[in-house]
Amino acid sequence: MQERYAKIAGWGKYVPEKILTNHDLEKMVDTSDEWIRTRTGIQERRIRTENDTNSSMAVAAGRQALEKAGLAPTDVDLIIVATSSPDYLLPPVSSQVQHMLGAKCGAFQLGAGCSGWVYGLVVGTNMIRSGAYDTVLVIGSEIISFAIDYTDRTTCVLFGDAAAAVVLTASEEPTGVLAFELGSDGSDYDALIVPDAGSSNPLSQSTIDNRNGYIKMDGRRVFKFASRTVAQSLKRVIDQAGLLPDDIDLFIPHQANARIVEAGARLLRQPVDKFYMNIHKYGNTSTASVPLAMVEAIEEGRLKDGDKVAMIAFGAGLTWATVVVQMGVGEISPAHSLFSAARLNYLAKRTTNKVIDSVQMSLLPLYTWFVGRNKKK
Ligand code: COA
Repeated sequence: MQERYAKIAGWGKYVPEKILTNHDLEKMVDTSDEWIRTRTGIQERRIRTENDTNSSMAVAAGRQALEKAGLAPTDVDLIIVATSSPDYLLPPVSSQVQHMLGAKCGAFQLGAGCSGWVYGLVVGTNMIRSGAYDTVLVIGSEIISFAIDYTDRTTCVLFGDAAAAVVLTASEEPTGVLAFELGSDGSDYDALIVPDAGSSNPLSQSTIDNRNGYIKMDGRRVFKFASRTVAQSLKRVIDQAGLLPDDIDLFIPHQANARIVEAGARLLRQPVDKFYMNIHKYGNTSTASVPLAMVEAIEEGRLKDGDKVAMIAFGAGLTWATVVVQMGVGEISPAHSLFSAARLNYLAKRTTNKVIDSVQMSLLPLYTWFVGRNKKK
């Protein structure tokens, strides 16, 4: 049987009109534009207006993706909506989105924190690769501001609202997701949590009194996890694709903190300008973050057909999800050809990288201790 691939055939985004700047936040909590910019890279974020709902934002992004691909909603075989902020606890927002779009297909909501959309991209891809479906719409939509305590300076400066989507279509050319890793480490489940409002602690007066219906985050714990995971997972998935970090044209990391991205770039020994960032405009838009960055990278001409892109998201769970994607059609990795100068060159560079990586990993605890020591001074 001919191998099937899932091509990224269309993309779209929606960002609310309302802008909340660092200076606006200075008037709300004890913070400063300088602190937020230097610690996170964020300058402003979008917040939903009264006209925006999770479903309306998902539909706007999804419709744009379908138009770009020249497809009608009735062409779609499956809709996946990744989110942590659906319109209602029940029903899943995916059914509202399916109805509002006018699609006639199955739809489900996917929850994997900020990693949700990348999880969805992998699920959609494999639905197509298995032959089950030909066209899958994968949306990430987030009104995360509803779960933010705007009296808590440790979280309210970080997050914003947005939606973005891609449509995947079946292809016989090698394209789309070439390799992936889906990760979860539930031992840190409480590092990023909304303590009340689930079935463990249903809503009550104490939820309101203790402000436990909002996101509580141990920022340092998440920071440590993310700084470790970004480079390590990217290395594994790039290797699985038969590529080297140098072969990647653009990295699209989760837009949670510019310092996490810079640490990842250093550990991968890649220039930081190969890492796309729009965090200054939007902050962390949770599951919409990676697809929104991907759509804007395409719009700005930073990502085009033929390019190889590595994307990584991480978030509550704690979860992470990493993919290497071929945009359009490109050259197959030299790792897959049997005997060639290109393969020998690839193997030599891969071995050198592995040696440097193992030295780097053994020195990492020393480096972390040194950076921590300098910070305390
Ligand atoms: N404005 C001013 N000061 C603030 C502040 C704010 N918005 N938020 C925290 N601070 C203070 C802290 O209270 C602390 O004060 P203290 O030293 O008197 O106790 C000080 O700044 C340093 O706090 P710390 O937590 O060490 O800062 P940091 O450099 O680690 O940055 C985060 C905090 C949240 C920006 C950082 O930990 C982070 O980005 N973590 C990852 C979060 C993330 O990615 N979450 C989403 C995952 S999807």
